[in-house]
Amino acid sequence: MRWSRTESESFFSSSTTMTSLWLRCEKKPFERRAALTPTTAKTLLDAGFAVTVERDEQRIFADSEYEASLIATKIRLAGLKCWRDSIAGGGTLYDLEFLTDPSGRRVAAFGFHAGFAGAAAGALAIASQKKGETLGALEPYENEAAMVAGVKAALGGSGNGIKALVIGALGRCGRGAVDLFRKIGVAEDDILKWDLDETAKGGPFDEILGVDVFVNCIYLNTSIPPFITRERIAAAGQGRRLSVVVDVSCDTTNPFNPIPIYNINTTFPEPTVPVVLGADCPQLSVISIDHLPTLLPREASEQFSRDLLPSLLEYPQGRVWSDAERLFKTKVAEAASVEGL
Ligand SMILES: NC(=O)c1ccc[n+]([C@@H]2O[C@H](COP(=O)([O-])OP(=O)(O)OC[C@H]3O[C@@H](n4cnc5c(N)ncnc54)[C@H](O)[C@@H]3O)[C@@H](O)[C@H]2O)c1
Repeated sequence: MRWSRTESESFFSSSTTMTSLWLRCEKKPFERRAALTPTTAKTLLDAGFAVTVERDEQRIFADSEYEASLIATKIRLAGLKCWRDSIAGGGTLYDLEFLTDPSGRRVAAFGFHAGFAGAAAGALAIASQKKGETLGALEPYENEAAMVAGVKAALGGSGNGIKALVIGALGRCGRGAVDLFRKIGVAEDDILKWDLDETAKGGPFDEILGVDVFVNCIYLNTSIPPFITRERIAAAGQGRRLSVVVDVSCDTTNPFNPIPIYNINTTFPEPTVPVVLGADCPQLSVISIDHLPTLLPREASEQFSRDLLPSLLEYPQGRVWSDAERLFKTKVAEAASVEGL
């Protein structure tokens, strides 16, 4: 494989082969993830694809890590920002987060690392509360080990002694949350893992009040009774252990939100929102960040890209692409009717 620089040196790419892939540079603040990693780019190159990677100082992977891949363009791997140009030029945009398998499940999703990062943020919020402080701005970590070490250090060395409840524990996000709690040293018996069987009796669940941190990771697709309510929390008064809720699912504005105790999405600069309770109630914070995997860009990108790889290797053949193209055309038609495109 021969690699060459373009005249502008704004990107680097492989020599021309068959299908071409182009990884755009990322402009969104805090976003360091990539749908193509050096590892998956190499696999695609070896399979005969041409790969182009725009230079990007923000991406978690250094340009040098890709120095064996490069692209031209048929699939735009990112960037709703460029959709108008692409459509005007006759291109097709595939939304990679809507590629689904025959059962309707996403072929690539960031779930595991959302749960992992959400649980980390929850543990950090507990550490801050213990010092009488509010959790400050969160920044992406270089890698998982750095995140685990950072959380342990904030907790004084270990998460031992924390009691956690994860609902949706059998899903992608839930498994990630459980994994983080294990890695920071929370005792296995202190990680309560609930899924459909445990919530079948119907909420609200007072068990939630008896843990330090509750992480919600369910996939909500139907109306269910709330898991917890402001009234139940207030009624517990000083007898409550719960101090942090992490709503990974973030069904914040869904009328069936099973955690109707807050109503905004929090952010990396301000990760927590207080639950308004009576004056004599202990503090309770909610974390409801809807792009948590951004905190762990390296591992989140690797997993997403690995899951995406079988579909990319099939491109342009395969049901996922024809379905995605159909979705694209539907959305373009909808946009055209609204905006007169
Ligand atoms: N905040 C973020 O950054 C972020 C990132 C990725 C995904 N998400 C969201 O997290 C949610 C979960 O995603 P996932 O990929 O883990 O889904 P998933 O389908 O892999 O897992 C969901 C789990 O929830 C369980 N569940 C569903 N209803 C339940 C109920 N009433 N009681 C108990 N368990 C229940 C399911 O059995 C399943 O095990 C989705 O809403 C997704 O959009 C958020």
